[in-house]
Amino acid sequence: MFTIQYPLSDRKGKLFIEDVAVDMLAKEFKTPLYVYSESHIRKRCRDIIGAFSKHYPRFLPRYAIKANNNPALLRVIRSEGFGFDASGPHEIELSLAAGAHPSDIIYSGNNHRNEELQFGLDKGVLMNLDDLDQIERLKKLGVPDFVSFRINPMIAAGDIKGLVFAGADAKFGILEDKAVEAYGIAKEAGARRFGIHMMTGSCVLDSAYFAAATEKLLMIAGAIRKKLGITFEVIDVGGGLGVTYRPGEKDLELEAAARGVAEAFSRLVPELELGNPHLMIEPGRYIVCEAGFLLTRVHSIKQAQKRFVGVDAGMHCLLRPALYDAYHHIVVDGKLAFRDGEKVNVVGPVCENTDQLAKDRELPRIGHGDLLAIFNAGAYGFSMGSNYNTREMPAEVLVHGAVADLIRKRESLSDFQAMTVMPARLQ
Ligand code: LLP
Repeated sequence: MFTIQYPLSDRKGKLFIEDVAVDMLAKEFKTPLYVYSESHIRKRCRDIIGAFSKHYPRFLPRYAIKANNNPALLRVIRSEGFGFDASGPHEIELSLAAGAHPSDIIYSGNNHRNEELQFGLDKGVLMNLDDLDQIERLKKLGVPDFVSFRINPMIAAGDIKGLVFAGADAKFGILEDKAVEAYGIAKEAGARRFGIHMMTGSCVLDSAYFAAATEKLLMIAGAIRKKLGITFEVIDVGGGLGVTYRPGEKDLELEAAARGVAEAFSRLVPELELGNPHLMIEPGRYIVCEAGFLLTRVHSIKQAQKRFVGVDAGMHCLLRPALYDAYHHIVVDGKLAFRDGEKVNVVGPVCENTDQLAKDRELPRIGHGDLLAIFNAGAYGFSMGSNYNTREMPAEVLVHGAVADLIRKRESLSDFQAMTVMPARLQ
């Protein structure tokens, strides 16, 4: 999202998230500050469930916690009927704490340690394995009743190179021939219920892609069924539903994506004799991305070979621009409409030249103390943050109507000190 539209509004030049003015939030909670719109998250959950279950009633929605793990958001998403995709033991714990039943949790991790596999086994979640290596190790730990494998179907997409998760260069999943072997081992070792999974790329805006990838996965499932005589209880087509970050981009047509996936199921499931599987998806970004904003205050303006606007957010709390050269739209509170703009680089306080949240960006004339709202910060924003340069992570606030609740405190030096240990000989 890159325009002032729900959950944002322009009220006499002032920016509101739902019914709360961003300058009030900045005053009360300080900056940098992550702010999320609860209604927007709920809307996205309902849109997804509506679009998919309309065409395929045996639909199981899951939320990929890695996009944003705040427990308050997990509660909201759970209350809309979502289970979770967990990538490690802590995300299983967070899912359970948010009220999910173990069978509502799909546990998809690559490169899991034995203790991590054991943890999933003990909790009774749906084990989604990444390789033969994992089923061999599970044989020693205990084989669960339900086993799924992540497939690399050799079809991939992704907004940027770093967001492509299948194909020749991907570390994830197993290829079709290995998959037959893997399910064979699982079956022999005692697994009785099966799933199949893919996650081929993130931030995909082309609705037709989802049907094409689903067809590929179903064909692979069909081949496995034929060779081993197993049927699949769950067919998980992953996440990847994209959102727009830049002006000019065309929104994903969710309805068309859902219809395409469901049509592939309706056609190929009977044809390939795949039984009566559930369709599972596990989006992260689509649910939380556009609901989130990072508020940041301008504290310095430097005119050098370029004009640098120094703000209190940076790559430590929003890594995407530094890591992927990702575009995040920015508006200036109180200057939402402007004619005479200027090109600036919006830069953070971290000692890296990649700490630039926007480059050569046309913004209104900015002064000290101005408040900026960075868009699309709800997914892979806070969750990819760090304490680099001994910077604390921001607080997080959840807005619902006219109410703003603190859902994570701002970090402090004492949090840092609580984790570090000084040996007695150095005291
Ligand atoms: N399922 C699995 C197994 C995943 O690994 C992921 C994301 C998802 C689901 C959710 O994907 P989504 O619906 O959000 O596309 N750091 C990157 C995104 C990496 C996504 C990693 N896996 C970014 O900032 O854009």
